[in-house]
Amino acid sequence: MSSMRNLAVASLALLTSHAAAKSCRNITIPVTVSARTGIFNIDVPSTSLEATTFAQNLTRQGGNFTDQALSGYETTSGTYQISTQFCQPDQSNVTNPTLQILTHGIGFDKTYWDLSYNNFNYSYLNYAVDQYKYCTLSYDRLGIGNSSHGEPLNEIQSFLEVAALAEITNMFRAGTFPTVSHAFDKIVHVGHSFGSTQTYALVDLYPNISDGIVLTGFSTNSTFVPFFGAGADFVLANKNQPFRLGNGTFPAPLQIDAMAESLLVDYSLTDLVAGLTMTPPATPLDYADGYLTNSNINANQYLFFLPGHFDQGILLAGENTKQPVTVGELLTLGSIPTTNNFAGPVLVITGSNDLPYCGGDCFATGNPDVPSVPSTVAKSFPKVDPKDFTVYIQPQSGHGINAHYNATGAYGVIEGFLGSKGLASS
Ligand SMILES: *[C@@H]1O[C@H](CO)[C@@H](O)[C@H](O)[C@H]1NC(C)=O
Ligand SMILES: *[C@@H]1O[C@H](CO)[C@@H](O)[C@H](O)[C@H]1NC(C)=O
Ligand SMILES: *[C@@H]1O[C@H](CO)[C@@H](O)[C@H](O)[C@H]1NC(C)=O
Ligand SMILES: *[C@@H]1O[C@H](CO)[C@@H](O)[C@H](O)[C@H]1NC(C)=O
Ligand SMILES: *[C@@H]1O[C@H](CO)[C@@H](O)[C@H](O)[C@H]1NC(C)=O
Ligand SMILES: *[C@@H]1O[C@H](CO)[C@@H](O)[C@H](O)[C@H]1NC(C)=O
Ligand SMILES: *[C@@H]1O[C@H](CO)[C@@H](O)[C@H](O)[C@H]1NC(C)=O
Ligand SMILES: *[C@@H]1O[C@H](CO)[C@@H](O)[C@H](O)[C@H]1NC(C)=O
Ligand SMILES: *[C@@H]1O[C@H](CO)[C@@H](O)[C@H](O)[C@H]1NC(C)=O
Ligand SMILES: *[C@@H]1O[C@H](CO)[C@@H](O)[C@H](O)[C@H]1NC(C)=O
Repeated sequence: MSSMRNLAVASLALLTSHAAAKSCRNITIPVTVSARTGIFNIDVPSTSLEATTFAQNLTRQGGNFTDQALSGYETTSGTYQISTQFCQPDQSNVTNPTLQILTHGIGFDKTYWDLSYNNFNYSYLNYAVDQYKYCTLSYDRLGIGNSSHGEPLNEIQSFLEVAALAEITNMFRAGTFPTVSHAFDKIVHVGHSFGSTQTYALVDLYPNISDGIVLTGFSTNSTFVPFFGAGADFVLANKNQPFRLGNGTFPAPLQIDAMAESLLVDYSLTDLVAGLTMTPPATPLDYADGYLTNSNINANQYLFFLPGHFDQGILLAGENTKQPVTVGELLTLGSIPTTNNFAGPVLVITGSNDLPYCGGDCFATGNPDVPSVPSTVAKSFPKVDPKDFTVYIQPQSGHGINAHYNATGAYGVIEGFLGSKGLASS
């Protein structure tokens, strides 16, 4: 109760400067984590053609490049900075709030949950916090955005990021998250894509860490993941949008003969321009080689969007604010157990035309007994009571559900599910 009063006090303090229905604060926190990571014995791509070579290696049928490149395991430990945003409802009569911890996927950062396009009309946060009175914690995954970057092959891998997610969750359980002195009784985890994979891994490792999970843009069928690895047309992030994803300098002097080859081989001219249409960031993200991104807006559409069901403006905005993926993440994103230890409520919600997890059509299963590709996720949760497990196929949506016209339709399904499991703020 005393911790709740602190939350209310913090809320009142924020009210003096915010008229909106929610109060948010950006907090960068140190987390000390340790995880088993793979030691991969390949060269880190240092040109975009090497990024293509990596993609060819990764997507070659009949092989398992993760296994081929793996030479052993080590323990990676460290203290990293995680850039977070905590939001709470203003003026609410909630006394026992539920916290949603939101983990973004590849290509995005924490703003996936708070897309600013069209005056925040697609914002998941506005829906969950303003309308449903949840508290939320969104964050840039370790390695991405304003969180600490790291060595992209043998450091920034899935399980180190999962360790950071666990650490953040434990802070909220204990009431030790900086400036939020409330120990949350109810915490649910919501992921998108790779963020769902990490949420899945989290609750397998620590089944009691979460009161319920929502896996968006997800299935356990890995057949079509290579479509993503191929369709991205991966290039080096720091060369693709050098003013934003690189160190902010274009290699000088601009000598055409020396540059021509480099321009053709290393730079995407369209994305060079995309990077220029925005106000250049004061501090460019300065990703190291080995951080990859999709080549251009066409690849972005292919990966995340269903034609006819999104506004081209949001695709452009997505391309101009996209975030990269490390080669270490790509090598470890499939390393999740087939059977999960979690026993609480699970909602899987995937776009009808999701690319990586349904191959572009979730209903094309070739088996009348299998209603959708994601429906087979049920087999991975033997400890979950069937009445607590739901698979929902969001109509007219690709992989990036939050950026489609009917994003808020999907949000309603998510909050409806959580409410039906007794997990709403109360
Ligand atoms: C907080 O971070 C968001 C991005 O997540 C940014 O848009 C916003 O301007 C930041 N707010 C402040 C007060 O720095
Ligand atoms: C691609 O795979 C070959 C082995 O088949 C390996 O020697 C090479 O380092 C790999 N390159 C990249 C960039 O993954
Ligand atoms: C590929 O190899 C890795 C490392 O050995 C393993 O964890 C993973 O389960 C394998 N993937 C498949 C689909 O067999
Ligand atoms: C937001 O979306 C709703 C319907 O989803 C629409 O009616 C409204 O005009 C949109 N507002 C803005 C600012 O785009
Ligand atoms: C990252 O930090 C910059 C500079 O403070 C800010 O403009 C931007 O909104 C932040 N982005 C995210 C995703 O937090
Ligand atoms: C986890 O939760 C279950 C059900 O609430 C309980 O039976 C079990 O003892 C808990 N396990 C641990 C390690 O706390
Ligand atoms: C900035 O990045 C470019 C391209 O990767 C590189 O050639 C240059 O040396 C870097 N400059 C600094 C100051 O790091
Ligand atoms: C994955 O989905 C495809 C298409 O529905 C299907 O052919 C394949 O058997 C599925 N794989 C698994 C392991 O369920
Ligand atoms: C929007 O999504 C909701 C939830 O899936 C669904 O019930 C509704 O029919 C969708 N609306 C349209 C126009 O597709
Ligand atoms: C908060 O107030 C709203 C309307 O004023 C009401 O519908 C809701 O049940 C109340 N919630 C709690 C937890 O008291």
